[in-house]
Amino acid sequence: MDTPVILKIFSKGKMKDYFVKPEGEMHTDLGIIKLDELKTKNFGDKISSHLGEEFIIQKPRAPDFFIHAKRSGAPMMPKDIGVIISNTGLCSSDQVLDAGTGSGILAIYLGGIAKKVITYEVREEFVEIARNNIALTGLSNIECRHGDIVEEICKLDENEKFDVITLDTIAAARVIPYVPDVIYPGGFLVTYSPFFEQAKEIREAIGKTNYIDVTTIETLEREISFTDRGTRPATARVGHTGFITIARY
Ligand SMILES: C[S@@+](CC[C@H](N)C(=O)[O-])C[C@H]1O[C@@H](n2cnc3c(N)ncnc32)[C@H](O)[C@@H]1O
Repeated sequence: MDTPVILKIFSKGKMKDYFVKPEGEMHTDLGIIKLDELKTKNFGDKISSHLGEEFIIQKPRAPDFFIHAKRSGAPMMPKDIGVIISNTGLCSSDQVLDAGTGSGILAIYLGGIAKKVITYEVREEFVEIARNNIALTGLSNIECRHGDIVEEICKLDENEKFDVITLDTIAAARVIPYVPDVIYPGGFLVTYSPFFEQAKEIREAIGKTNYIDVTTIETLEREISFTDRGTRPATARVGHTGFITIARY
């Protein structure tokens, strides 16, 4: 194989994983791995370090990019991405408009399901990071464009219409007035906002458009801890991330 892979090993009571390209060497506390050897291996095979420690080779999937991709804007968490996918019924015929791209994590998840994802990022240096992250996934249906979505949404070609529009940007409320012009009837707009104030601003902006229905939710995730003493929700947990507003047109 000549694409990036995940190397996994369970060591000292912990699962460790590494995101690597099949070139050069990697030095770990479990020994040196000759990554060139990956070129002759398949997913599911093992590769050994010079100390004889065996790492399993896996194909990277979207959650691996959430953990290992280079970060710029704070990536959306998988728990919130799941809610977007389930509430929009995202499917393989969907055209998606996304902004801001940030690290490209939401776009990568959406691109794994939808027909096409066009994602806009205003900061040029973030565009480059996102394009590199997207290239590593091997997905060819995600187009990362440089630009301010507030201006760019008005310049879209008249044939560019969308089934799902995702806005994870401070500019969301200023984009919403233009959404009805570019969304297919029955399509979904989803916004993500860390603060109540932004969620309220978004609801007010949606209220001025011809939407059919709208909901704002927050998702909470609790990991369950299993110890000899007992089983219960883990003490440490992800606190607040953001409010998700879902509107149908
Ligand atoms: C929280 S990050 C998005 C993270 C992304 N959803 C992910 O999962 O990786 C917000 C991004 O919006 C970008 N942004 C802010 N205003 C924008 C605008 N008007 N047009 C396009 N992008 C914008 C920021 O530069 C930032 O990268």
